[in-house]
Amino acid sequence: MPSIVALISGRGSNLAAILDYAKYTGAYKTAAVISNRPGAEGLKLAESQGVHTEVLDHTVFASRDEFDKALKQRIDAHAPDLVVLAGFMRVLTPAFVKAFEGRLVNIHPSLLPSFPGLKTHQQALEAGVRVHGATVHLVTAELDHGPILDQAVVRVREGDTAETLAARVLALEHQIYPRAIAALLHQTIRQTDGQVHGALAAPLAYDIE
Ligand code: GRF
Repeated sequence: MPSIVALISGRGSNLAAILDYAKYTGAYKTAAVISNRPGAEGLKLAESQGVHTEVLDHTVFASRDEFDKALKQRIDAHAPDLVVLAGFMRVLTPAFVKAFEGRLVNIHPSLLPSFPGLKTHQQALEAGVRVHGATVHLVTAELDHGPILDQAVVRVREGDTAETLAARVLALEHQIYPRAIAALLHQTIRQTDGQVHGALAAPLAYDIE
């Protein structure tokens, strides 16, 4: 069975969805969850499900390079097929990204290439877009870029705030992330030369009322 290592920094709601999906489908196993923050809520969640956890506190490293090298070693020890960023709030060095090229995935709360970076829901409201969403993508050296694996679409409603929009997007993140991970691991979809090929065999995830 293919395996993943998940990297987290916080509450871990995407991690919860990823663990649930594996439990019900048997599509992959989670070899380890690694957090750069000792107090990340997602650690407790993983432990409660018997998943191996580790903490690698970035604040004790002198540089980003040193942290990323140590992180790579921790990940390599589990030899995962895929490294999954699940709310991992760190910019990764080009050397780290290169080392896991094609095996590193992220979920971003916007319809990329619109609204990379932080405060995506606020950015969407300020831009006045009528649809917003989330994107699962392979990670490349450029922040919030890289080949797109799947997207979910949310209608922006009258009176939406960044919080109400975030909640509807998050619910769909939980649908599209695990299934994109499974599709990549089982090669329903694959990447060659920056292009993603193959069908997801899953309906579009949307909230368009
Ligand atoms: C999500 O909004 C995800 O899109 C972004 O960070 C947030 C993580 O939330 N990359 P959680 O820790 O998975 O609940």
